[in-house]
Amino acid sequence: MRLDTKKLRAYYADAPQDISLDDVDLEAIPSHVSIIMDGNGRWATARGLDRSRGHVAGVDSLREAVTTSVRLGLDVLSVYAFSTENWRRPQREVDLLMHLFATTLVKELPLFHQENVRLRFLGDIDVLPERTRTVFQRGLDETADHTGMTFALAVNYGARSEIARAARELARSVASGELSVDDVNEDALSARLYTAGLPDPDLLIRTSGEMRLSNYLLWQLAYTEFYVTPVLWPDFSRWDFLRAVASYQGRSRRFGGVMSS
Ligand code: FPP
Repeated sequence: MRLDTKKLRAYYADAPQDISLDDVDLEAIPSHVSIIMDGNGRWATARGLDRSRGHVAGVDSLREAVTTSVRLGLDVLSVYAFSTENWRRPQREVDLLMHLFATTLVKELPLFHQENVRLRFLGDIDVLPERTRTVFQRGLDETADHTGMTFALAVNYGARSEIARAARELARSVASGELSVDDVNEDALSARLYTAGLPDPDLLIRTSGEMRLSNYLLWQLAYTEFYVTPVLWPDFSRWDFLRAVASYQGRSRRFGGVMSS
């Protein structure tokens, strides 16, 4: 994606001591960054607030992450907002999150229009509460023609069920004779995942210090570089994003091969 360096420099003015835009190679920005946004609850609890306040604060971080991604010229930003396991949280918290997803999406549509961002969902959104579903569909319809960055929101997403669903679809196609057994390969399976058509993430960021994948993009992360930061999601800023990109650029990606000299 093309970079507007003037806008980017303005966005990254007022650098803190340890990081600045000069620490990253603007020619080697990852194409797809994915984020496990974690730590909202702990952020709120540490302040003596209800967990819900952490999620509300997390919305501001998410807005900034979208803007940062656009400014850096990413092709795709994907974020893990709600897993298939998150239904086990107290009903009040689930209701709040569903409400927050819907209201945030409506509120942020002008930003998506302004920045030419195309929205996409990863996960089974058909079973979400009706208002959330309706708003999500509106977001999809209104941004379908946008040609800029793709913002993929994982909601009611679980990687194992995603892979099982893709396998089921393949089995159905083989059973109907549409596909032969020998056509069942990596590309055929990838094409039936929620991420079909998107590049695999180059960089996965997880906030709040946890070192696990939590059933997120198990197939797609095969060769992704991981960056784990202790920063809690509501505190995650454009500077933390830049630190992650700088760390990513310091790695040598070999995709199972060896470095060419
Ligand atoms: C993890 O923190 C965060 C979530 C489960 C929800 C993510 C939601 C947001 C960032 C709110 C905005 C999202 C959208 C799409 C509008 P946690 O509750 O697991 O934190 P903890 O591990 O400290 O308990």
